[in-house]
Amino acid sequence: MPSTPASKSFYVTTPIFYVNDAPHIGHAYTEVAADVLARWHRQRGEDSFLLTGTDEHGEKILRTAVGNGSTPQAWADQLVHDSWLPLLDTIDIDNQDFIRTTEERHEKNVQKFLQHLHDTGFIYRGSYEGNYCVGCEEYKTEADLIEGEGEYVGQDVCAIHSRPVERLQETNYFFKLSEFSAPLLDFYEQNPKFIQPESARNEVISFVRRGLEDLSISRSKEKFDWGIDIPWDDSHITYVWFDALLNYITAIGYGEDQANFERLWPASVQVVGKDILRFHAVIWPAMLMAAGLKPAERVFGHGWLLVGGEKMSKSKLTGIAPAQITDTFGSDAFRYYFMKAIAFGQDGSFSWEDLSARYQSELANGFGNLASRVLAMVKRYFDGVVPAPGAYNEADLQVQVVAAKAIANADAAIEEIAIHEAIASVWTLVDELNNYITVTEPWVLAKDEAQRERLASVLYTTLEGLRVLAIALAPVMPKSTAKLWAALTEGSLGELADQPLSESANWGQLAAGVKIGDLDSLFPRIETDDEGK
Ligand code: MSP
Repeated sequence: MPSTPASKSFYVTTPIFYVNDAPHIGHAYTEVAADVLARWHRQRGEDSFLLTGTDEHGEKILRTAVGNGSTPQAWADQLVHDSWLPLLDTIDIDNQDFIRTTEERHEKNVQKFLQHLHDTGFIYRGSYEGNYCVGCEEYKTEADLIEGEGEYVGQDVCAIHSRPVERLQETNYFFKLSEFSAPLLDFYEQNPKFIQPESARNEVISFVRRGLEDLSISRSKEKFDWGIDIPWDDSHITYVWFDALLNYITAIGYGEDQANFERLWPASVQVVGKDILRFHAVIWPAMLMAAGLKPAERVFGHGWLLVGGEKMSKSKLTGIAPAQITDTFGSDAFRYYFMKAIAFGQDGSFSWEDLSARYQSELANGFGNLASRVLAMVKRYFDGVVPAPGAYNEADLQVQVVAAKAIANADAAIEEIAIHEAIASVWTLVDELNNYITVTEPWVLAKDEAQRERLASVLYTTLEGLRVLAIALAPVMPKSTAKLWAALTEGSLGELADQPLSESANWGQLAAGVKIGDLDSLFPRIETDDEGK
C-alpha cells in the first residue's frame, strides 16, 4: 500500500471562503472532499492536518457590510460565528485549524512576506488600467467577458458573475509574475501531478505558455481601505488575493514557528474549485518561488455543483443551505452522496430525487440494512456473542479476498484523489456481503443443528466484513461507522480512529466470545413529506 513516510505530515487545505454571505452546498462540497482526504490519511495512521477558514478583506466584503449597515469587521465576525463555523458541525468536518485573514497571526506575517519580496526586488511601483470584477476580486481580460443580458444588455459582464466589470486606473505595486512563466512551466513538467485533474493541468499550462503579466498587488486607500497595509507604504493596502493565498502558510507558522511550518509545508493537497485554480496553480506557486519556498505538492481543481446547468451560487439565488439537506438526511448521507454521486473533478447536478433514491437504495438498503441484519442474526442465533468460525470454505475466503482488494483499491484511488472511485471500491464489499448472505442463507442454516459450525463461520465472516467496512467508511461517514463500530466491538478492539487502514482487511480481529452491542438503524426511513423540500 502506498503511504507517506511517518515523518511527513499530510497537510490538506480548502480555499478560505468569502464572508459576504452564508455557505451553500458548493462550499460544503469542497469542505467535505478535503475532510475525507484528511480523515483517510489519518486512518492510515499519518499526521494529517486539515486547514480551512475565511477570506475577510477586499472590496466585495466591504460593500456587502456597508450595504447591510455594518462595518466589515463586525459583519465578518457575525458571519463567521453564525454561519461559517457552524457549517463545520453541520457537515462533520474535523479540521485542525480555522484561519481568518483578519487575525493578527495572518496580517503580521503577510506583511513579513511582502516586505521580503519587496526587499528582494520582486515588487515594484507602476500603473495599471483594466476591467475589475468585484465578485471575483480580479482584473479581467477581454476573453473573460461576455455580453450582458437583461438589465445589463449592451455592457460587457463577467462570465462568472454576469455583472458588469468596473474600469479601474491606478498607480500601485506590482509583483513580477511575468518572470515566472519559464520557472512555472519547468515546475509543471518536473511535477506532473502538481495540477489535477489532467484537463485542468493542460488548461493551466497553455495559459502560462501564452506568457504572464505582472500582477497588481495593492490598492490605494483613496479607493477603499479594508485590507492589510503595505508595510513600506501605508497609503496602500494589499490586494485581497495576495493576502488570502498566504493563509496557507501563515496558519502553520510562516514567519514565527519555523518548526511547525517545516512539519507541514509543502501542503500535500490543496483542494479548490476550478474557478480559482489559476490563482492556486499559477500565482500562488510563483509567490512561493519568489520567496524561496516550495510550491504545494498538488492542487486539485474540482468541478462545480450545478443548478439548471449553471454553477450554483448565492449571487444568482441558486444556493441551497447545507442544513436543508442534513436536517433531513443527516451529515453522513450528505457526505456520502456528494462524494459518491459526482466524479471528483467533474461538474455534477444536485437533485433531491437522486439524493433520496441513493439514500434509500445505497445507504438504507445497501449498507444500513446489511449491518442491522448481521447483528440481528448474531443476537438471535448466538445470543449476541461473536461466534468462533469453523474451517472457511471458498465463499468465505472469497469475501476475504474482496475485502482486501476493496481496501487496496480504495487506498490507491485516494492516492489519485479519485474519492468517488475509493468509495466505489469499498462498496464492492457491501455488495459482496449482501450477496454472500443471500447465497449462504444463514436463516436456513439456523434451522439445522448439524450446521451450527457452518452458521458460525458465515456470521463471523459477515461480522468481520462489517468491521472492515466500519474502518474504510469512517472517513466518509464518521457518525454511522462510529455507531457500527461501537455495536460490533463494545470496546474490545479499541477506538475506531486507531484502526490502521492497512491492517483492516487482516482477517480474524474480532474475538470469539465477545458480546456485541445494540445498533439503531444507521439510515432510518425518511418520511416522503420532507423529501422534496
Ligand atoms: N475567497 C476566495 C478563495 C481564496 S483561497 C486563498 C473564494 N471564496 S468563495 O467563497 O467564493 O469560495 C470559492 C470556492 O467555493 C470554490 O473554489 C469552490 O471550492 C467552492 N464553491 C463555490 N461554489 C461552488 C459550486 N457551485 N460548486 C462547487 N464548489 C463551489 O473564491
